[in-house]
Amino acid sequence: MSVKVFDGTAFAEEIYKNLRSRVRKLKERGIVPGLAVIYGKGIPAAESYVRAKIRASMKTGVSCAVFPMSPLSGEKAYIETVEQALKDKKIHALILVKPFPKKVDFEKLEALVGSIKDAEGLNPFHFGRLFKARGLEEIKRKNTIVPATALACAEIAKKLGSPLKGKRALVIGRSNVVGKPTAHLLMMMDMTVTVAHSKTRNLKQEVQNADLVISAVGHPNLIAGSWIKKGAVVIDAGTSHLHGKITGDVDFKGALKQALWITPVPGGVGPVTTALLLRNVVSLAEGVLR
Ligand SMILES: NC(=O)c1ccc[n+]([C@@H]2O[C@H](COP(=O)([O-])OP(=O)(O)OC[C@H]3O[C@@H](n4cnc5c(N)ncnc54)[C@H](OP(=O)(O)O)[C@@H]3O)[C@@H](O)[C@H]2O)c1
Repeated sequence: MSVKVFDGTAFAEEIYKNLRSRVRKLKERGIVPGLAVIYGKGIPAAESYVRAKIRASMKTGVSCAVFPMSPLSGEKAYIETVEQALKDKKIHALILVKPFPKKVDFEKLEALVGSIKDAEGLNPFHFGRLFKARGLEEIKRKNTIVPATALACAEIAKKLGSPLKGKRALVIGRSNVVGKPTAHLLMMMDMTVTVAHSKTRNLKQEVQNADLVISAVGHPNLIAGSWIKKGAVVIDAGTSHLHGKITGDVDFKGALKQALWITPVPGGVGPVTTALLLRNVVSLAEGVLR
C-alpha cells in the first residue's frame, strides 16, 4: 500500500476556478464582492494570515480592504472600525483576525458583526442553519456559511475517504471554529463520529479505532504515527510552530507508514480553508441580490 499525500493547493485551485465564474456574474450586475480584514498590526501570525487572504482575494476578483489596528488601540477603536465596515456597502464580509489585545472583548465584537457580513460562519444564525442542514449538498445549494476549516476538512474527507458511510471518524478538538462543526459535518456524511478533547482518557486507543482521523488541536506531534490504523485517512488541521517551522498535530513521517491518505502541514488543510473562506465571501455578496 503506498501512501498518498494530499495536495491542498491543487484542490484549492478547483474551488477558485468556480469562484471566479461566480464573481464574474456578480460583476456583470455591478457588484464587486468586498472583504474587510481587521487585525492587530505587527503580530507576525496575523500579518501572514492577512497576506494569504489578500492573495486569495486577488485570485478570485474579490476586493480586500485591510484594517490594521495599532497595538495601542482600545476596544472603542475596534468597535468603530467594525461599525465602519458594517456600514460600508462595498463590504459584504468581515473577518476578525485573532489574537486581539486582552483589553478588547472579542465576543462583543463578534456579536457586533452579526450574521449578514460574518464570513467565518460563527454567528448563531449560521450555526443554526448548519445544524439543521441535511447534508453537504444542501449546504452548498443554500450557500450556508460554514466555518471554513471545518468545511475544508469535510470536503477533503469526501474526496479522499470515499466511501465514508458507516465508517468511524475521530475528530480531535471541540472548538466552535473547527472541532464541533467538523464533527457535525461528518455525521451528516453518515460517518460514526467520536470527538476527543483534552479530557479524553485514551487518545491512542481512539486513534487506533478510526478510519478517518481529523485533528485540530495545535500540539505538534500529539499523535504518533504508529497509532494510525493501517489504511486510514488522516487530515491534520493543527498548526503550530516548532523549531521555526509550521507543524501539524500528527507525526507526519510516522503516519506515512500507516495511512492511505494524509494531508501535509503546511499545504494541506490551510489552502483549502482559505479558498472556502473566499467562497463564504462570495456567497455573502450574492446574498445582496436575494
Ligand atoms: N489549517 C487552518 O486553516 C486552520 C484554521 C483554524 C485553526 N487551525 C489550527 O487548528 C488548531 C485548533 O484550532 P482551534 O481554534 O480549534 O483551537 P482551540 O480553540 O484551542 O481548540 C483546541 C482543541 O484541542 C483540544 N485539546 C487540547 N489538548 C488536547 C490533547 N492533549 N488531546 C486532545 N485534545 C486536546 C482542546 O480540548 P478542550 O476543549 O478540552 O480544551 C480543544 O477542544 C490550531 O492549531 C489552529 O492553529 C488551522
